[in-house]
Amino acid sequence: MCGIVGYIGEKQAGPILLNCLSWLECRGYDSCGIAVAGGDLTVYKNAVRVKALEETLPPGIKGTAGIGHTRWATHGEPSQVNAHPHGDCAGKIVVVHNGVINNFQKLRQQLSGEGHSFISETDTEVIPHLVEKYYDGDLAKAVAIALDEVVGSYAIIVMMAGEPGLVAARKDSPLIIGIGDRENYIASDVPAVLDYTNRVIYLEDDDIGVITADDVKVTRQGAGVDRKRHRILWSMEDARKGGYGHFMLKEIHEQPKVIRDTIQAYLLAEESTEDLFGPGDTYRASMLLLACGTSYHAAMIGKYLLEELFGTPVRTELASEFNYHGYNIAVDRAIVITQSGETADVLKAMKRLTGAGCPVTAITNVMGSTASRMAQRVVYTRAGPEISVAATKSFIAQLMALYWLALLYSKIDISQRDNLVTKMRQLPGKVQQVLDNDAVILKCAGQLVGYDHTFFVGRGINFPVAMEGALKLKEISYIHAEGYAAGELKHGTFALLGREAPVVAVVAQDDTYEAMLTGIKEIKARHSPVIALVAEGDETVGELADTVITVPQTDAIFSPVVNTVALQLLAYYTAKQRGCPIDFPRNLAKSVTVD
Ligand code: M6R
Repeated sequence: MCGIVGYIGEKQAGPILLNCLSWLECRGYDSCGIAVAGGDLTVYKNAVRVKALEETLPPGIKGTAGIGHTRWATHGEPSQVNAHPHGDCAGKIVVVHNGVINNFQKLRQQLSGEGHSFISETDTEVIPHLVEKYYDGDLAKAVAIALDEVVGSYAIIVMMAGEPGLVAARKDSPLIIGIGDRENYIASDVPAVLDYTNRVIYLEDDDIGVITADDVKVTRQGAGVDRKRHRILWSMEDARKGGYGHFMLKEIHEQPKVIRDTIQAYLLAEESTEDLFGPGDTYRASMLLLACGTSYHAAMIGKYLLEELFGTPVRTELASEFNYHGYNIAVDRAIVITQSGETADVLKAMKRLTGAGCPVTAITNVMGSTASRMAQRVVYTRAGPEISVAATKSFIAQLMALYWLALLYSKIDISQRDNLVTKMRQLPGKVQQVLDNDAVILKCAGQLVGYDHTFFVGRGINFPVAMEGALKLKEISYIHAEGYAAGELKHGTFALLGREAPVVAVVAQDDTYEAMLTGIKEIKARHSPVIALVAEGDETVGELADTVITVPQTDAIFSPVVNTVALQLLAYYTAKQRGCPIDFPRNLAKSVTVD
């Protein structure tokens, strides 16, 4: 998705904007640009990576204020002309925008009729023209009037030649202001400014901010509002590669620590009481778990856990589908799971749920994110900043939160619970064993690398693990991978099995074991090569499968943790051998802020 940044202060804006933009690359983009104000406005943009844009800039660009953008194309192909910033007719106003203007066609027609000429195919270009139309000496006022005519979602920064400040505004798209010392920053994501400041203000929907080097003024419908200043606890060091070839590998290797930190926080610190999730009754009544993508797979695992330990049914929904259901949505409690806290489908579902009077708990990784502010209760995961587009450590941290919820309110007796907590505390060591055993996984990646199609199968609590393994492989290696409930292959998909379609089977030591063995035999009978994930000590599966990846023994409910980590590595090494851009896969974005 698009990313936006702004700077105003005493330093040269160009290099700062480019550095901030480089931290937004993981959002996914196809073109980028900056505009710098040094008397006149100068715009540099193209359908290239940030580094390439930097290399083509003329030396010595002057200007101590500027705005920048990474574009993920929605309206119009990736090209120089469609890249942001976009300007008005007179070349005095420039705008960067994240979001979608739904009524841009109508506005464009109207403005064209009034003499404005457009050069791009974008929805964004109407904004600088609207601001130009309404400008009468007060930029913030012109922006406010312009935005009154706009239907859609936006986070924007507007800069005008000769005006002392940048104007920022948001609706349904995140925007923060970074507070510096005689300089200020604006960005769609906190990491973009962390090299310069850890003090931020989160703008709310309909806020308009006027940002100068020394001051930040926020208004809402013309009246001034005070927005709290937050101190961000992540450092940029947390977000650097730290010697690993890719963020994804670093983040996979951080998982023992993430599990330890999460357990520590939930188990020992102040959150060890019911304060964390709030009163248990609503969770044990009718509950809905809602999320997208990898977080949805965590929700699916949560369903197994909670049903097992609470003994009550739990519903899971894809947020993107939930928003189009007409049925009565009343449930006693909804939990939304979202790493970024900015996924548009999730936020839309949250609005719908709160509108229906349902209390919503958000499990999120990003403090101050929109989901964290919309929810009645927030449980933070302790993954730290996740830069790679492929979610890894945030998924494992989400599982930890769900394990904790399940254990906190389960109806199991205390000794059984203590036993599970003890096993949960052994997980960092078990995950470390998986990481240390990567030579076998590397070898399996070598077996997968030449195929075009794969299937991942699992049963019970490991069915979502198979789906997650498939998602990881497809998104970073571009190999077609489908995650299946193992028992479902025979209901149609068997037609695709054969020597050209390997199957990765996740075999757990639980009541699904025998059925998985039968499934593997059936797959082998159709000549598909099988890579099986098995628990240490299993002698049987090795006789059926072509290759075996062994993971440490755990209680069955924790098997998704070790199995997922092994599949993350499998995807990583496969993508690496295929030479894919692992951290920034094509067409994808870290937080999907459009629906
Ligand atoms: O930030 P969220 O957890 O709400 O993101 C949801 C999905 O977009 C995300 O999990 C996506 O599937 C992963 N990045 C894929 O690895």
